[in-house]
Amino acid sequence: SILEMEVEQINKGKYEHYMQKEIHEQPESLTTTMRGRLIRGGSCKAKTVLLGGLKDHLKTIRRSRRIVFIGCGTSYNAALAARPILEELSGVPVTMEIASDLLDRQGPIYREDTAVFVSQSGETADTLHALEYALENGALCVGITNTVGSVIARKTHCGVHINAGCEIGVASTKAYTSQIVVMAILALAIGGDTISNQERREAIIDGLFDLPNKIRDVLKLDQEMKDLAKLLIAEQSLLVFGRGYNYATALEGALKVKEVALMHSEGILAGEMKHGPLALVDENLPIVVIATRDACFSKQQSVIQQLHARKGRLIVMCSKGDAASVCSGGACRVIEVSYVEDCLQPVVNVVPLQLLAYHLTVLRGYNVDQPRNLAKSVTTQ
Ligand code: G6P
Repeated sequence: SILEMEVEQINKGKYEHYMQKEIHEQPESLTTTMRGRLIRGGSCKAKTVLLGGLKDHLKTIRRSRRIVFIGCGTSYNAALAARPILEELSGVPVTMEIASDLLDRQGPIYREDTAVFVSQSGETADTLHALEYALENGALCVGITNTVGSVIARKTHCGVHINAGCEIGVASTKAYTSQIVVMAILALAIGGDTISNQERREAIIDGLFDLPNKIRDVLKLDQEMKDLAKLLIAEQSLLVFGRGYNYATALEGALKVKEVALMHSEGILAGEMKHGPLALVDENLPIVVIATRDACFSKQQSVIQQLHARKGRLIVMCSKGDAASVCSGGACRVIEVSYVEDCLQPVVNVVPLQLLAYHLTVLRGYNVDQPRNLAKSVTTQ
């Protein structure tokens, strides 16, 4: 009806689509996610974090034998992005499970495990069934959802709301970045203060405070991503190479492109390049390589050299100031992004890929908010 259409336009504000609005809203959604959870004390008080919904369970989580992340789609990718920092700060082994795969295998879940269920909607059937399975097996079950009162929020023993605000576009964007931020805060909370990690913790907390500004910076790439989308509009396929903290970024960027732009896209672990993907490389197939500054940078530079040697058509995402050095071996396009503390870099790096997927979709003439065959919340198995 006309009324419904008008209400929708009001909800979208100055934007044409919900996905576009939700991408551009991320400086604010991240601010809301962090509100009340980061404490930058006065002169004598150290910087610290507070997660009200978990504080009585932190001891149990620290003592658990392993932390298992369980989710589907974008929520799984968010957990994968947070995995390295969780391992680093908690010292507890962290494993990953796609909810349906855990159920298919009836994989082992023990009383000594902490199982963390990540779900934007809090209603995804596979994740919910995996939760019921983990409860039966006696694990401590933690929920990370965006929906207060959702079934996953209610059935878990404890949890954290990501407070990203209502997300309407089927392809998840702002929930993804808020999920990563919550899990980084979770890593800080589980890790606890020790003298040896104090500097690292403070750098992460400072990085979190600064993140909304860094997202504002990266959103300025909107027109550049639209231009890139114009170049890629007729392609059949797009590969995205990442590793370390940004392996998840590669998977999530590729997922956005396939979900909404209906273009084949694959996220590839750069360390596996020689074990298959290299066979695909020629002068036609576009490849995004994520090579921002972190401990994997030099390895990623050598990946770029090898792709250049095979005349790969490269689009390199790098930290500001690195454009000349990453492209020294051949022609390539660059996407320069602001540097943040390594474990938070995935939050920044995914944004240009969200913008790219959005523009590709609109230029290709597809429905960006409701891609064919997909649903926002998959409540059947
Ligand atoms: C569906 C949606 C995705 C989402 C996934 C998991 O596939 O289309 O955007 O990432 O479900 O949803 P959840 O609500 O559990 O995060």
